[in-house]
Amino acid sequence: MKDKLAKIVEDALARIESSEQLDTLNDIRVFYLGKKGELTSVLKSMKDVLPEDRPKVGQMVNDARSIIEEKLEEKKTAFEKKLREEKIKSETIDVTLPGKLPQMGHRHPNTIALEDLERIFIGMGYAVVEGPEVEYDYYNFEALNIPANHPAKDEQDTFYISNDILLRTQTSSVQVHVMDKKELPIRMIAPGRVFRADEVDATHSPSFNQVEGLVIDKNITFADLKGTLAEFAKKMFGEDTQVRFRPHHFPFTEPSAEVDVSCFKCGGKGCRFCKGEGWIEILGCGMVHPHVLEMRGIDPDEYQGFAFGIGLERIALLKYEIDDMRLLYENDIRFLEQF
Ligand code: DAH
Repeated sequence: MKDKLAKIVEDALARIESSEQLDTLNDIRVFYLGKKGELTSVLKSMKDVLPEDRPKVGQMVNDARSIIEEKLEEKKTAFEKKLREEKIKSETIDVTLPGKLPQMGHRHPNTIALEDLERIFIGMGYAVVEGPEVEYDYYNFEALNIPANHPAKDEQDTFYISNDILLRTQTSSVQVHVMDKKELPIRMIAPGRVFRADEVDATHSPSFNQVEGLVIDKNITFADLKGTLAEFAKKMFGEDTQVRFRPHHFPFTEPSAEVDVSCFKCGGKGCRFCKGEGWIEILGCGMVHPHVLEMRGIDPDEYQGFAFGIGLERIALLKYEIDDMRLLYENDIRFLEQF
């Protein structure tokens, strides 16, 4: 019996030792220690053992079981350790590999142009204000000296919401709100969205952005307007930029002008960018019409002012040499990523 047990233990230890996977250990456990296992069958043959020898034999079987279990446990721990080490090895981070850069957002060209523009005017002491996009006809037209029969009021140009409420067609309406506050002097810019019933093409959109400017104070002259816009053009497009004022007509300013900047691509010689002109139109402006001041209760003999209206998209397109306005609205990531 003793020899038989010794043989079983010897076999078991050898099999455990030579096993190569965790699974095999389980099979070995079942084979020797299971219900129908080798050791169990020894216990079952106890009836053939002399009663006085039984405790001794029982002890021997238990010892054999302990030895096998201990070895199984030892081997199992070794396997687990090996697996863990392999796993750690395969998971090791190579800190010398280049990292994956997180995708960063980009500012929209309109936003960049607006921030540049705001910085320039804030630097000259202007406040940045906002006004409503949904507006009374009165603020968008009448109060700006645009009478009821003016062609700009045609329904094809203006989105009407009701008889007297519309989507503003110009940020000039904000001038009226600011003058109504009765806080003089005024020095403000008002950026914002405007709406016109235009078909979409490379230079038109039913919704675009303007930046309105308004200054009202004592002794304001056209020279102040010229100096201010010349300074703006240099800061926006480069120190060598020249400005040119062409007489124009706007109902709310008198005199009125359109302003061109010298082409910053060719320096004024004429190129494809400026269509051979040497000049590029960037805004409309003028001295605030005395009637507009009077309507707001401001005495034009005491206060004068100038105003200007800049198309924001136009500035962004020029600054980044983009030739189609639609690109600014389509929000194609591949386009926007470039800025
Ligand atoms: N509101 C004009 C437009 O939408 C632009 C403009 C021109 C604004 C002259 C002004 C100005 O303040 O003085 O076409």
